[in-house]
Amino acid sequence: MFIPVIMAGGSGTRLWPLSRTNYPKQFLNLTHSDETMLQQTINRLNGLNCGAPFIICNEEHRFVTAEQVLQLGVEHGGILLEPIGKNTAPTIALAALKAVKENSDATLLVLAADHVIHDKKAFQTSVKHAYEYTKNGKLVTFGIVANSPETGYGYIKRGAESGSKGLAYIVDSFIEKPDFKMANEYVTSGDYYWNSGLFMFKASRYLEELKKFRPDIYKACVKAMESQVTDMDFIRIDKQAFMACPEDSIDYAIMEPLCNERLDSVVVVPMDAGWNDVGSFDALWEVSNKDKNGNVLTGDVKVDNTQNTLIISEDKLVTTIGIEDLMIVNTKDTVLVAHKDKAQEIKTIVNELKTEK
Ligand code: GDD
Ligand code: MG
Repeated sequence: MFIPVIMAGGSGTRLWPLSRTNYPKQFLNLTHSDETMLQQTINRLNGLNCGAPFIICNEEHRFVTAEQVLQLGVEHGGILLEPIGKNTAPTIALAALKAVKENSDATLLVLAADHVIHDKKAFQTSVKHAYEYTKNGKLVTFGIVANSPETGYGYIKRGAESGSKGLAYIVDSFIEKPDFKMANEYVTSGDYYWNSGLFMFKASRYLEELKKFRPDIYKACVKAMESQVTDMDFIRIDKQAFMACPEDSIDYAIMEPLCNERLDSVVVVPMDAGWNDVGSFDALWEVSNKDKNGNVLTGDVKVDNTQNTLIISEDKLVTTIGIEDLMIVNTKDTVLVAHKDKAQEIKTIVNELKTEK
């Protein structure tokens, strides 16, 4: 049995102004399903032989998290509250420390709370394969066939087959968020997967590697967990100790250096499950149902001679004539109009707006 750990503390900046600081992407229903991204992540586990999911989010989002879990009527293994986001390496360390305290041999399935995965069965099959590899102490990544030079992903170089069933490969190298030129080379070579951002390993193995590569993060997290307090559904940690923790992602802190050691510690299990991280509006356009002109239209919208455009209106009627390849998002207090090719640059505007405040 393994424990699902759901990381729900991201900010989803590139989906601004839909995704806001007080209500980020993972709590939204972006894909017109009955559920939010967080709820879909939890329900995707149905049918797997695993423990109750353990959720880690920002303290600010405790009520929306608890409410969305409650709505599903499923059991959860606790909601740990981070006083501030320190990125995924510390988040996973907190989960691992809690898990080893309860069972020194615990295995974690680390999940992002904000991904679309269309094929639940294929996802579960990859997880079952991955679980077998964790038993030998491997750290498992899940690889998605890379078909465009995205610069917002990690790239996993597939090495020799691990075992003989074609279920997993040794990871030869791991490159987090390469520049466009390198990403293009990786995709053209056909030897690379995108890192899905989901991981599986024994909690003790993660902590061992963290201690080796980032003892500073390890120590800060141990300290933060020393005085944890359970308050109803919520687990609170030592604020001061966690505030002092350095910030880093698992990808930079562990995966890149560990794979470079070439000790065959990390394997990649391919996952062909209709995965998309819906990180930006062009990705949302990609995964959504389109009209015959390639438009994705949500809310009060009327278009004429408009192609390949995404329009979301939460407020007021939006009309367009004679445009193509745009993203238009209209919320109560903000209107965004951007070209579809510039979807990644929304992050820059949001950061500028934050500093202007
Ligand atoms: N609790 C918590 N605290 N969760 C966090 C924090 C934090 O400080 N930071 C991020 N998360 C959550 C996000 O909500 C998301 O579900 C997940 O962790 C990954 O964080 P992102 O910030 O979305 O990472 P990314 O998209 O830039 O990159 C990662 O995912 C890509 C695939 O989507 C990397 O793993 C890449 O290698 C990967 O390709
Ligand atoms: Mg992401």
